[in-house]
Amino acid sequence: MSWIKVFAPATIANIGPGFDILGMAIKGAGDIIKARKTDSGVVITQIESTGDIPSDPNKNTAGIAAQEVLKIIGESGGLELRIKKGLPIGSGLGSSAVSAAAGAFAANYLYGKKLSKEKLIIPATLAESKVSAFHADNTASTLLGGVVLVRSVSPLDVVQLGTIDDLTLIVVTPNIVVLTKTAREVLPQKVDFSAFVQNLGNASAVTASFITNDYNLFARSLSDIIVEPVRAPLIQGFQQVKEAALSSGADGVGISGSGPTLFAITNRSENTAAQIEKAMVNGFKEAGIAASSFITTVDEEGVRILE
Ligand code: HSE
Repeated sequence: MSWIKVFAPATIANIGPGFDILGMAIKGAGDIIKARKTDSGVVITQIESTGDIPSDPNKNTAGIAAQEVLKIIGESGGLELRIKKGLPIGSGLGSSAVSAAAGAFAANYLYGKKLSKEKLIIPATLAESKVSAFHADNTASTLLGGVVLVRSVSPLDVVQLGTIDDLTLIVVTPNIVVLTKTAREVLPQKVDFSAFVQNLGNASAVTASFITNDYNLFARSLSDIIVEPVRAPLIQGFQQVKEAALSSGADGVGISGSGPTLFAITNRSENTAAQIEKAMVNGFKEAGIAASSFITTVDEEGVRILE
């Protein structure tokens, strides 16, 4: 049986103030899964990864999502998966959701493409919930591409927003692991009402900025005063890296997903983006942490077949 090769892009979930409801697919990083049909069952026969990823298909998000899709379409055939992780686990780039999306897409593609990408969100999110929680910001953005607003997961209600043409993202990943589970344990049980109103205003404005293609509105709204303050202590060097980015010309900085990756934004020259990147990497270095980085833009395509 012949192989297909699926690519699912990395994500920046939350996009600042939109905790669990906003997500963005980005170019330049992601997971690749090779898949082929088998007679029955889902098996993972190869994993290339820098981290420890389970090959048990009931514990691996790609395996779980693929099985969910086969169940939904009533298929008794199986699947062999070979996973090449392009994203470190616990990095904040949506690693587990990205694998889940690629697994779901591969199963659907090989068995007659019966489901739309939208219909793959729930099986992928079910898989993601095994390692994180039942939130679709990462899964919906890596599947659909672009920027998404998840109004509700149950029932699922996802809106695809547009993009911002002149948005450049500087993505910096320090060499530390922050598991989403850990980053969710520090979330506040109650929030101050005025902070809630402020975050609501900012999240709504980020949403509007991607509908109206308005970089300046996005830059003004990239602020999270509820979740960022409680998660920042999990990211060594956070404050100095954020300040370094802003003083090098970034118009805003946020935690990507549950961290520790940070992203900064600019709409200026490549040179400015490179200066911001350098300042952020140096900021982590001064905090004693090595960091990797790249400069990128929104991935509008989402999960896809690679030729
Ligand atoms: N919205 C999720 C969180 C994303 O911030 O916990 C996790 O990748």
